[in-house]
Amino acid sequence: MPWKSDAHHWGSLAKTLHWLVVLLILAQGVLGLYMVGLPKKPGIIPYYNLHKSIGMTVLALAVLRLAWRAFDPRPAEPASTPHWQALGARAGHALLYALLFAVPLSGWWFDSVAALRPMYFFGLFEIPHIAAPNTDLKELAHEAHEWLFWLLVAVALGHAAMALIHEFVSRDGTLSRMLPGRRHALAIAPGVATSAATASTLTENDHAETTPAAAIPAVDPAARDPGA
Ligand code: HEM
Ligand code: HEM
Repeated sequence: MPWKSDAHHWGSLAKTLHWLVVLLILAQGVLGLYMVGLPKKPGIIPYYNLHKSIGMTVLALAVLRLAWRAFDPRPAEPASTPHWQALGARAGHALLYALLFAVPLSGWWFDSVAALRPMYFFGLFEIPHIAAPNTDLKELAHEAHEWLFWLLVAVALGHAAMALIHEFVSRDGTLSRMLPGRRHALAIAPGVATSAATASTLTENDHAETTPAAAIPAVDPAARDPGA
């Protein structure tokens, strides 16, 4: 079942949720920083409404992601990963999950204590406040939302850097197995590594390791392109 992960690959649902959330957070960061710089006029309201609706979508996707993770087996780290690094990655991922909740929740908290306009999810239905209006807490909630966002940026940058190091320095395929479609490509042509890029997508557990060299077909350009 391609949407489910297995011991070596991320399933398409886990991948889709990962990259969708990355894109939405990027959009949220840009929109949030842009809208707070705008002059406080009624024209800013649509930006705030959009920011809150996308933010609540991120929160819902975070819930969905964790719920799906409970049923979906998490692929193992490449066998070459040292124990301390695997533990570090797990701690980093746990922190990312925590921030995926904390950032939108702090925004929702700020929205509630500041008693801003009622929040409508993309104009469809009203989302209730989670706290009573409280001007004393408004500043704290705003600071919390802003600083949790910057903490998320810092941790996500470290996380992305580690993914790139694994991919291009350790060459263990950690990033490519999280990219869309790679699993499909490997399933179609197991063991045929036609380029360094393809080779780097194969982990210790992938087919090339277990396929005897003699069983790997030679790559004949004429066979690939009948018109040649
Ligand atoms: C992943 C989700 C979210 C991200 C990444 C995010 C990010 C940001 C950022 C970067 C700012 C600008 C902070 C500043 O410099 O003052 C901001 C402001 C704001 N956010 Fe969010 N936010 C998210 C979710 C939410 C949610 C769910 C709500 C409300 C339900 C919300 C409500 C607000 C409000 C009202 C402001 C404006 C604060 C002001 O007027 O000073 N945010 N957000
Ligand atoms: C806002 C940005 C990001 C967030 C919140 C985030 C969050 C996460 C989380 C929570 C996991 C763990 C999944 C699990 O164990 O269930 C994960 C895995 C992963 N992320 Fe990200 N991520 C972000 C950006 C990125 C970027 C920019 C890259 C690549 C440059 C990336 C590459 C990966 C890879 C390769 C994995 C799989 C690691 C493995 O197989 O052990 N992520 N991400």
